[in-house]
Amino acid sequence: MEDFFPNKPLVVVSNREPYIHNRVNGQIQAMRPAGGAANAVDSVVRACGGIWFAHGSGDADREVVDKNDCVQVPEENPEYTLKRIWLTQEEVKGYYYGFANKALWPLCHLAYAKPSFEEKEWRIYQKVNRKFADAIIKYLDGRDAFVWIQDYHFALLPRYLREANPNLSIAQFWHIPWPSPEQFRICPKGEEILQGLLGNDLMGFHIVYHCNNFIHTVNSVLESRVDWEKNTMIFQGKETLVRAFPISVDFEAISGDTDKEDVVNLSKEMKKEYRLDCPNIVFGVDRIDYSKGIPERLMAIDRFLESHPAFKEKVIFVVAGAPSRMKLAIYRNVNREIDRLVEEVNQKHKTKNWCPVIFIRRTLTRTEILAFYRLANVCIVSPLHDGMNIVAKEYVSAKNDLNGVLILSKFTGVAREYKRALQINPFDVDQFANSIKVALEMDEKEKHSRMRELRKITRSNNVYHWALSIMQQLVTL
Ligand code: F6P
Repeated sequence: MEDFFPNKPLVVVSNREPYIHNRVNGQIQAMRPAGGAANAVDSVVRACGGIWFAHGSGDADREVVDKNDCVQVPEENPEYTLKRIWLTQEEVKGYYYGFANKALWPLCHLAYAKPSFEEKEWRIYQKVNRKFADAIIKYLDGRDAFVWIQDYHFALLPRYLREANPNLSIAQFWHIPWPSPEQFRICPKGEEILQGLLGNDLMGFHIVYHCNNFIHTVNSVLESRVDWEKNTMIFQGKETLVRAFPISVDFEAISGDTDKEDVVNLSKEMKKEYRLDCPNIVFGVDRIDYSKGIPERLMAIDRFLESHPAFKEKVIFVVAGAPSRMKLAIYRNVNREIDRLVEEVNQKHKTKNWCPVIFIRRTLTRTEILAFYRLANVCIVSPLHDGMNIVAKEYVSAKNDLNGVLILSKFTGVAREYKRALQINPFDVDQFANSIKVALEMDEKEKHSRMRELRKITRSNNVYHWALSIMQQLVTL
């Protein structure tokens, strides 16, 4: 992959950094973020090199950078440069917690949370996008580059970069869904956001449906022209190609690592630690976000045990959740709701020797997640709405013995590829509960045939294929 950018440097931009340095018990540790996107992009940048600009959010981040605020990563075998951008508390509040996560996140996810648009937060969002643009322009010092922007934190960045250097090749990948024009209409800053994004040469989404929503939104808001043959939008003379690129995982790495000794040993230890001596382990792991359908999953578990008490003591549900965005009330509320439901389900169904739900509220390490994938004969991925969902693809990659069933929300991007997962509507508690029974009772032949097919899809459409398609497209524009 390193041959892809022979003459121009690759510049990646994201809010969340791929390595976060924190002090743990007095020692500096490099941590990986909970979300899948930064990890997916990291695999790619490691393969092709470059520089990655991100918000330095770790409490020890400043201690490990050089005089240019750069650190070489990963520490044990440096492959690229991470350039940290420092934000004040006020900037983080207005840009990250504010406009990005109180306005754009609920605007783009159909999870029935009302977006809130504050002028002050918008101004800070503009300021932070400008700050990143200035840092990139300063670093490039007039050179051309391929700039690859991640996500909804930077809707204005492509235009700012384009204005400063019209020759840059700029692509942006929007990791979350794009709403319908009807939903988008309520955004008071809609025009500025779209003008910002049309500074890109290439605008990528996970699925064609989101591309079409985007094109229709632009068409209804801006004086622009669509070339439906080429799937491009022309605004003020600038052409932007809009295309779907379904993100994926490093299939071979996950598959290989799951059978390594450390994971195998850890899965044995965890079996003891969590007392998972039960014929069925049903696992789920998410960032704790109201869009992920965790309360809905607990309600389905309750309904399942209510309707099928014969399964008591025969199954344990491990629900792992990484705390996220806890400064926002809506995230604290979903955490409280989860606690209440876990307590309720356990009180209602537990027996002398068995408790149905184990809730783990922390960011699991990669090794722990792989160990749980090994142990789980069922994995539940139940978002109310999700751009893609990487957990589904990780679980499939880890099931080398084919002995696993994936229960998957049909409102995830991955549901378009994974037709043979057990698809559910997380809002339909009875159907969801019944799917748990179907998964637990599925015969081996059926299980293996479904998993074999899901693995085949993921093996060929892996994260390198995703990145390569974006890069191939960008270099030919
Ligand atoms: O899925 C969208 C996304 O922004 C990802 O890019 C990221 O992995 C995830 O959400 C995590 O969010 P945050 O960085 O706010 O913790």
